[in-house]
Amino acid sequence: MAAVLVVLAACCTSPEKADLKKMDFFIDDLMEQMTLREKIGQLTLLEGEAYRSAKEGRKEEFIRRVREGEGGSVLDMYGARQVREVQRIAVDQSRLHIPMFFGLDVIHGFSTVFPIPLALACSWDMEAIERSARVAAREATAEGLCWTFSPMVDICHDARWGRIAEGAGEDPYLGSRVAEAMVRGYQGTCLADSTTMMACVKHFGLYGAGEAGREYNTVDMSHWRMYNEYLPPYKAAIDAGAFSMMSSFNTVDGVPATGNYWLLTELLRNEWGFQGFVVSDYASISDMIDHGMGDTAAVAELAIEAGLDLDMCSDAYAHSLEQAVRSGRISMELIDQSCRRILKAKYLLGLFDDPYRYCDTTMAERVVLCPEHRAEARRTAAETFVLLKNQGNLLPLQKKGRIALVGPMADDTLNISGMWSWCARPDQYITLREGLRKAVGSNAEILYARGCNLIYDAATDKKYARKYITRDSRSDKELLNEALSVAARADVIVAAVGECSEMSGEGASMVNIQLPDAQRDLLEALAKTGKPIVMLNFTGRPVVLNWENEHLDAILQVWFAGSETADAVADVLFGDVVPSGKLTTTFPRHVGQYPFSYACYNTGRPQYGDFQRCRTNYLDVENDGLFPFGYGLSYTSFDYSPITMSDTVMNSKGEIVASVTITNTGNYDGCEVVQMYIRDVYGSVVRPVKELKGFERIMLKKGESHTVSFSITEETLKFYNAACQHVAEPGDFVVMIGPNSRDVQQRRFVLN
Ligand code: BGC
Repeated sequence: MAAVLVVLAACCTSPEKADLKKMDFFIDDLMEQMTLREKIGQLTLLEGEAYRSAKEGRKEEFIRRVREGEGGSVLDMYGARQVREVQRIAVDQSRLHIPMFFGLDVIHGFSTVFPIPLALACSWDMEAIERSARVAAREATAEGLCWTFSPMVDICHDARWGRIAEGAGEDPYLGSRVAEAMVRGYQGTCLADSTTMMACVKHFGLYGAGEAGREYNTVDMSHWRMYNEYLPPYKAAIDAGAFSMMSSFNTVDGVPATGNYWLLTELLRNEWGFQGFVVSDYASISDMIDHGMGDTAAVAELAIEAGLDLDMCSDAYAHSLEQAVRSGRISMELIDQSCRRILKAKYLLGLFDDPYRYCDTTMAERVVLCPEHRAEARRTAAETFVLLKNQGNLLPLQKKGRIALVGPMADDTLNISGMWSWCARPDQYITLREGLRKAVGSNAEILYARGCNLIYDAATDKKYARKYITRDSRSDKELLNEALSVAARADVIVAAVGECSEMSGEGASMVNIQLPDAQRDLLEALAKTGKPIVMLNFTGRPVVLNWENEHLDAILQVWFAGSETADAVADVLFGDVVPSGKLTTTFPRHVGQYPFSYACYNTGRPQYGDFQRCRTNYLDVENDGLFPFGYGLSYTSFDYSPITMSDTVMNSKGEIVASVTITNTGNYDGCEVVQMYIRDVYGSVVRPVKELKGFERIMLKKGESHTVSFSITEETLKFYNAACQHVAEPGDFVVMIGPNSRDVQQRRFVLN
């Protein structure tokens, strides 16, 4: 085709003007040759599963659609050979030879699996997070993919929502930094590079704020609140160059996001200047029928008019848009506009230059699960673990004596990858049991007993765990007795417990966020033995740990840490790596505290100090969380000097530098995440009691000191006022610095 001869002009993620012109000419020329049906084809994302289907006629129909230009991209298809096959049909057999792009949810790694996103954020290590996306892109592009549905940047204040696992937590500032790092990692500096892939920011917008944490539920919030708390990470991701955005399933101001003109056009394009394309979530166009927005034709029109470019697998555009244009209900300009955006993505990905640039059939063997990637994943995983309790410095364990490893997560390779890990290769991973044995060698003995199933009730187990955890057919009593006899012979107990991977992620909202019944009983029985117990908590969400915190000696939150879980846990358990993770979601005392954020607003009757009646509180539980935002212990200890300020007054052009000197006063080298929060004391609207505005992750050797300085300018103090203008208001401020959001020191300053 002519297009193959095009010299790839626009290589980088922000091409030069001249290159853009060249691209525009190329696309103009192509679009002149396209029929309406072919243009609508570009707005249709086909389901890759159809090509693999054994169902009669399904594969043939998929091929026909590709041949006739009725689809422009494919979901859920990977493998360089298969992608090459399908690309060949598009390029060789369709009338205009337009290449397709291929997308998949590569959320936290490909076959080298990194910790789930919520865990990754707990590293507060933006370079490691960027590298994790880079590794994911290298492996995924070797398998034919050039588009990932990541990062998910939905802020969430409610751990009942299973998808809290997929985001960076509760804070918009941290969430924005993570979003930028992920986009940089996937896209690099050149989208057309055969080892980078296009990022898709999701889910736009406010998907994390569904009422009561119930999946897909209604969202209703003021614009003031969304601008301040929920929108910043989406904006940060597109400012970092993300070229695609996914609409969400929920409503915004009463209209589903997928058909919401204010959201997808006024805000995203007119206000933020987004240049890429918007894809619906899976079938979220046709889902609007159930929302009550009309029939297939009506919802297709609603979506395209709102600014939704690409229909993911609902086929509403394919069925309805041609007729809508022919009857004059939808303008040709709308179709052209969306088609142009999709073709632009293909151009920037370099597909017109070489449609097979992501289909090198020898590459996967070289990069997928290569030792460098696995080493990177292991290092990163260890950084995401959060030490919540370590009484009497039980951890790190010594590699000696007898260690009892118990719990349903101890001998597992299916769960460790966590949700959204389609390309995980459990056969290539080792279990915790194997990992600990490898780590201690002949110096110590690892005794093992499963102890219990995930949950007592087999039917519930099946519903929660699906195929991801196998059930032990022995009776509950037999399982427990075995664990108790193993514990009796051991010096210390390591309990690998928690949720299974499918208890978080999509479609996994829960109101009971405590350890499942059988596992709690196991821990209670083990606690009665009087042996020291380390709890390794595998979860995809914050959970309520009151009992565990009271009765167990050490708690290490390990999330779902990916393919290298076993080695990474061993690294931290035995002190080869000192834990440094810090929570990015508060762990509550009770599920009834949700929605919860450390950055709350004062009411007119806040509770200061102890409980008082008729203040903002509950009768039966404290206001704060059990483990606050930003919290995490280390094997070493850090001392914070008082805050020094370069000044205590600044004007709108000025800067104040707030500094603290941190000293490693303990017995290990270790990393600390130093956090700065700010409070705007008076405002034209209520302001949070504190907001994260800066952080730095530092490495300190034993005895070493380092001064961390945070720059505060007018920009740092800006927020959205009642008219949603981004302003800083003169007045009094408090700067707080500390190791977490609770234990901070403070100084005041004034903005004139
Ligand atoms: C999810 C998205 C995902 C899409 C494609 C949907 O159900 O909400 O996050 O990217 O499926 O797999």
